[in-house]
Amino acid sequence: MIDFTCSHEPLSSITAQAYVVVCNDGAELPRDVAEECYKIYPHYQAVLERRKFKGKAGQSCAMTGEAHGESVAMIFVGMGSLSQQPEDIMEGYRRAVSKAIREAECQKVESIVLALPTPAALGTDAWNLGKETLCTMYMTAYHFDTFITDESRRHADRYDLTLVAHQHDHDALAKGAEVGQRIGHAVNQARDWCDLPPACLTPSALAEQAEKIAAPHDHLTCKVFDKKDILEMGMGGLIAVSQGSDQEPRFVIMEYSCGDKNAPHVSLVGKGVTFDSGGLSIKPAHAMDEMKDDMAGAASVIATMQAVAYLKPKVNIAALVPMTENLLGGSAMKPGDIIRHYNGITSEVKNTDAEGRLILADALAYASEKYSSAAILDAATLTGACQAALGKFYAGMVSKYDDLSDKVQQAGKRSGDQVWKLPFHEDYRIAVRSTVADVCNIGERRYHAGATTAGFFLSHFVPEDTPWVHLDIAGVSFNVPNRPYYRPGATGFGVRLFVDLLMNW
Ligand code: BES
Ligand code: ZN
Ligand code: ZN
Repeated sequence: MIDFTCSHEPLSSITAQAYVVVCNDGAELPRDVAEECYKIYPHYQAVLERRKFKGKAGQSCAMTGEAHGESVAMIFVGMGSLSQQPEDIMEGYRRAVSKAIREAECQKVESIVLALPTPAALGTDAWNLGKETLCTMYMTAYHFDTFITDESRRHADRYDLTLVAHQHDHDALAKGAEVGQRIGHAVNQARDWCDLPPACLTPSALAEQAEKIAAPHDHLTCKVFDKKDILEMGMGGLIAVSQGSDQEPRFVIMEYSCGDKNAPHVSLVGKGVTFDSGGLSIKPAHAMDEMKDDMAGAASVIATMQAVAYLKPKVNIAALVPMTENLLGGSAMKPGDIIRHYNGITSEVKNTDAEGRLILADALAYASEKYSSAAILDAATLTGACQAALGKFYAGMVSKYDDLSDKVQQAGKRSGDQVWKLPFHEDYRIAVRSTVADVCNIGERRYHAGATTAGFFLSHFVPEDTPWVHLDIAGVSFNVPNRPYYRPGATGFGVRLFVDLLMNW
């Protein structure tokens, strides 16, 4: 929880425990800010020089001053150069802000004054600066420590924040900050679901969370289908994957309506495997320990619905989420099994660890049949191959629809959840051919390109003429290093991206 106010008073006149100044590479502080810093700690300039603080990306310098008769922290953080690509400038700013919060965390500080740079200098406006500032602060303040009993290891997640900026920016800044709060809260909600142990977050528990999200809103509904419904609907993939587990599967549909039936419709589909052991094609232990996070796609689309319920973009949205565990057992699906999916297409299971695509197949086919969507987007922790190809900082994007994938790429650049397009040439389609069914659930080894061939498997479940983007978020959802607004654990990737995309549709 962050309580914020805007102010244009001189820094030192505002009462707080910490004063944060964001500096860009090489630039002098504005004279008024410098004068205020001097009042709080006359030697600050000498300390900055001694520590070679130049405002470079990643630099920070904390010192102690005095204000209102109290000892206070002064925290200088660098955001790097202003002559970079716009997305890199904003990312430099996010990292600077979150570094400052980490410092405040160490110093056990709970009230913070932040001297904002001028929006124009960052190539943005006050609304966006407010949005990014609060969203980043929320993300930084997130800690998954509900299971840590030692109080001293827990962190504060409550701050009083004063944003210091020109008075004429206050309205836009405050409005943007409120939006940023909603987005940041939703990102953290998605992270929390991912971080929960798999014994807590079962398919039925996740479905209940979706119901809870929808309950307070008239324009957001949630329908939960249980095992019996799923069987009747003919979702053979979701049933097959769930067979090895005592936990029943769920299929959840959330619908947001913007009030205008003629507004464009967007479908979001998220992979909700609440634990992926690999099934009978069992994973080695080292590859299984992160698999409670295999519902990150589901978390990001449900949390996106939470944010849009408040932010009210002018599109109608459906979130479709298949939820199951992928375990081993006497009734588990076996390599060699053939599944009939929702749209009648059959798939040969050659590897039970390629389960995500089996449940997405049903959800994509269902979305394609039930809605006439201007776009279908899915997010799934689908392949280790995507993580190997792109690493931890870009989600893999597979799409034949350049207009839609360009839109997603732009939203990625603006929001900080970046995507990178993978090849999706027809040449690769042959890799998922099956000799006994319509399609095979793994690509033939010699073709490699596992993230692309997974995309070709999925393409059988979306009609050719529907704009569709598949996002492989296997690398970006968990344990992303060297980003100060993340912690070990989940990232909530996708929420910022989807919200940005939907609000700028
Ligand atoms: N959930 C995994 C993918 C994954 C890997 C997510 C690493 C996050 C980090 C998925 O279900 C899976 O096991 N995919 C297989 C596919 C293969 C059998 C074709 C993989 O990537 O090895
Ligand atoms: Zn798997
Ligand atoms: Zn999986």
